[in-house]
Amino acid sequence: MKEIEEIKKEFEEKIKTKSIEELKKIETYFLGRKGKIADLFKALKNISEKKKKDTGQEINNLKSYIEKTITYHLKELENIEKDKLLESEKIDVTLPGVKLETGGLHILSKITREVEDIFLSMGFDVMTGPEIESDYYNFEALNIPEFHPARDMQDTFYLAKKILLRTQTSPIQIRTMEKYKPPVRIIAIGRCYRRDAIDSSHSPIFHQVEGLVVDKKISFSNLKGTLLEFTKRMFGPETKVRFSPSYFPFVEPGAETAISCVICKGEGCRVCKYTGWLEMGGSGMVHPNVLKNVNIDPEEYQGFAFGWGIERIAMIKYGIPDIRMFFQNDLRFLEQFK
Ligand code: PHE
Repeated sequence: MKEIEEIKKEFEEKIKTKSIEELKKIETYFLGRKGKIADLFKALKNISEKKKKDTGQEINNLKSYIEKTITYHLKELENIEKDKLLESEKIDVTLPGVKLETGGLHILSKITREVEDIFLSMGFDVMTGPEIESDYYNFEALNIPEFHPARDMQDTFYLAKKILLRTQTSPIQIRTMEKYKPPVRIIAIGRCYRRDAIDSSHSPIFHQVEGLVVDKKISFSNLKGTLLEFTKRMFGPETKVRFSPSYFPFVEPGAETAISCVICKGEGCRVCKYTGWLEMGGSGMVHPNVLKNVNIDPEEYQGFAFGWGIERIAMIKYGIPDIRMFFQNDLRFLEQFK
């Protein structure tokens, strides 16, 4: 009986623990197969028959007391743990969210798509060509032989003898007509290169949109109508197109094309340098020599072509003052067009 009392005291001292792990150890210590309670039961056989029943009862009482107390404590400790976990995982739904920045297309990509959409709706196909070109496609086939002075304005970067970075998208005219028989109605947008000194309107890398239509009975008025339609859709229905005689070896006649200033509507302002017109690029009727170079009979077929600057379109449409801005990757500039 004394031992039972002592074990109870020992238990009550130990049960004050705050750790679940410790509690498990205590459980084995008292209730395990070789634990204190088991010892007590073993000792029963040394007790007189008379006292055995009562003592056994006492031990049983202690055993169930210990069991219940441990279960109760375990629950309590587990609840404390759970509360701690909940506290540490608490989410403050009133905190402001973290904004995910989304990217956007570069303004030149956007203009490219816009130009393509307009011409696609007018029945044109979209072609591409390589930026690394041969002398033949970039010059020779376009009626610009080796010592032609027109090459001076289109000096470029040579990667090898007769292999260069294209100076214009016009070589795609040749590549298209080599592949497809007329009727041909295409545009091609892409990067071009020239050995130009950089300033606010010149960049050694820039983009052009080339247009080419070849069919029977194609005339200059088709060229005028096409560029006027494009211009109206791009810059507004009141915009006019001006053609003035110019020279490009691969067209005859050739014309410089300008649109009426979208800022001053032709009145004259700083943007159009008080001329009322903004130059967009070249155009003209495909030269018979060019058609012959791709085995198309100039007696049977005629064509028109044009080449306008993509940066130029973007600068006019959005009032961008400096061509260098397209390539500086300044987010303050780029984000305005997202
Ligand atoms: N490729 C010419 C240039 O870059 C522009 C042009 C294209 C002119 C088509 C006429 C016809 O200067």
